[in-house]
Amino acid sequence: MKKVKIAVLVSGGGTNLQALIDAQNSGVITSGKIVCVISSKPGAYALTRAENAGIDAYTVFKKECKDHSEFEEKIEKILIKKGAELIILAGFMSILSADFTKKHENRIINVHPALIPSFCGAGYYGLKVHEAALGYGVKVTGATVHFVNEIPDGGKIIMQKAVRVHDNDTPEKLQKRVMKQAEWKILPASAELVCKKIISGEV
Ligand code: GRF
Repeated sequence: MKKVKIAVLVSGGGTNLQALIDAQNSGVITSGKIVCVISSKPGAYALTRAENAGIDAYTVFKKECKDHSEFEEKIEKILIKKGAELIILAGFMSILSADFTKKHENRIINVHPALIPSFCGAGYYGLKVHEAALGYGVKVTGATVHFVNEIPDGGKIIMQKAVRVHDNDTPEKLQKRVMKQAEWKILPASAELVCKKIISGEV
């Protein structure tokens, strides 16, 4: 059976990458296979997770590239070499250019730790998203998986899951709950859904 070749782009701890690896091992993901992990930061723990799972891991250090295009060209080279057909952004801390996203239309997905269109767009990343949600006083937040286009967090929504905000929450506590209850579930589920759609020619 055909499996879509997946590249996972990371910058940090890689718990979402781990959720994808676990989903592949447990049979939640059957229509795709992770062929490589690319980190924008050297030493990111996500790289160790990839190596432990026997997945080829690469670093493209943004700071060592002369500009953003060189950074994207280096990533592109790896994607071509590995034959990647779907790119999953899992805690990848760089915004991809319109050139790059257009070239990979409907072939890049991202997980955002809020219910888009709330608390999203440029500047909303990591703990800042949860600080903003708590600051606003929302009682429900969550996570969104969406296709990536030239607008940060602006592509078509694939899946969302709501998570309750507690009275005594801190950004850190909320971040953990959103990851556990939403991100680690809907990212693998969306990966499988999109792989199926790629195979059937629906996207
Ligand atoms: C997650 O909250 C993800 O939504 C985001 O950055 C965090 C990455 O965590 N945009 P990890 O590297 O997957 O552990």
